[in-house]
Amino acid sequence: MTKAKLSYGGKDYDLEVMEGTLGPKVLDVRKFYTDTNMFTFDPGYTSTASCESKITFIDGEKGILLYRGYPIEQLAEKSDFMEVCYLLMFGELPTREEKDQFVHDITYHTMVHEQITFFFRGFRRDAHPMAIMVGVVGALAAFYRDSADITDPHQRKIASYRLVAKMPTLAAMAHKYSTGQPFIYPRNDLSYAANFLHMTFSVPCEDYVVSPTLEKAMDLIFMLHADHEQNASTSTVRLAGSSLANPFACIAAGIACLWGPAHGGANEACLRMLGEIGTKKRIPEFIARAKDANDPFRLMGFGHRVYKNFDPRAKVMSKAAREVLDELGVDGHLFEVARELERIALEDDYFIEKKLYPNVDFYSGIILKAMGFPTEMFTVLFALARTVGWISQWGEMIADPVKKIGRPRQLYTGPGMRDYVSIDKR
Ligand code: SDX
Repeated sequence: MTKAKLSYGGKDYDLEVMEGTLGPKVLDVRKFYTDTNMFTFDPGYTSTASCESKITFIDGEKGILLYRGYPIEQLAEKSDFMEVCYLLMFGELPTREEKDQFVHDITYHTMVHEQITFFFRGFRRDAHPMAIMVGVVGALAAFYRDSADITDPHQRKIASYRLVAKMPTLAAMAHKYSTGQPFIYPRNDLSYAANFLHMTFSVPCEDYVVSPTLEKAMDLIFMLHADHEQNASTSTVRLAGSSLANPFACIAAGIACLWGPAHGGANEACLRMLGEIGTKKRIPEFIARAKDANDPFRLMGFGHRVYKNFDPRAKVMSKAAREVLDELGVDGHLFEVARELERIALEDDYFIEKKLYPNVDFYSGIILKAMGFPTEMFTVLFALARTVGWISQWGEMIADPVKKIGRPRQLYTGPGMRDYVSIDKR
């Protein structure tokens, strides 16, 4: 066993160094407080491993993303979202029989309880769809109490299937509600991605034929967003799950965290930014603002806590954006603005020095807009796709026999102890 030595206050402390399959070694500080009476200090967890996991690996310097060891580029090219869901949830690629059974089981969980439609009726029609999703997904706990006992592996599996299966239905309902169009029921003869497009864009008045191009692009976007190690929303799901809360509540917590523009909300913010830039000639003005320490403006879709070289998902997304725009013959001026913005930024010393590159959110909004999704739906699609990652990480944590409630400490810099002062003496 490798050890690290800490010398402090005339004492030496031995800390065990642990090594995983890939990635940095870790310093085991689980006994650090009891041994030293000190806490480690790491706001934002920039140097902290919160858990051991076998699901996803990211190498930020090399731009590597592996789902259960398989490179995202290979899965994007050769796999599909249902197969990736199976891989993330169960750890191995399915056999044909396993895949067919999994797809059947997910398909036959896509309907939601009819009472849930009344939840939507309580929202204003102009409610942000993420506000609806936080509310409705949390409310699933009220409907599926037969799969809320997290100590029962079978109930955990059913709840996981229900969440993966019902997110597209709820997401499509959130969109339909905002348009005033009727909810469209799922169909069992369509693929996961095609079913979602059908529920989102079809109307009862006429047949709707799903475009194979859109179906393929949707499936790819779901795969690219499926999981991403211990990001903010996944850490939120794990922390909520550590209190033994039911999985529906945990996923609702993850949706709430993902909504932020620093995280999953960046795809919506990025498209709005590209729209505000409008033309290539205004790009230098926005680059200057992004570099100005006194200006809170940030280039949305740029930068990443882990990727300091490039986000492999952005590369795949950029290629897909070009193909979808060409295939649909959609006006690609925002895509051209994005490409020029990327080119200029990647040659700029500020972005090079701070290792800021396009992330998964930089191009996704361009594709989603071309596919006909309103901008406010972009983060909902991110949440839809990430649900399988969240529930896989949650399942890994809950199945760990040595699970503990997450309870960080702090560096307290508030007032020392003092006596109460009555109001007439203040
Ligand atoms: C996602 O964690 C994940 O894996 C997330 C995700 C996933 O799949 O789950 O990959 C999805 O959330 C992608 C990120 C989407 N967010 C954005 O695109 C928003 C814009 N990006 C930034 O807000 C920022 O880059 C973060 C939040 C993504 C990362 O922040 P960090 O790692 O905490 O880095 P930082 O904020 O400390 O920035 C380092 C420096 C700072 O300058 P200094 O204070 O050192 O002078 O770089 C600057 C920042 O000001 N900087 C930017 C910038 N991002 C960072 N400057 C201009 N534009 C930017 N986009």
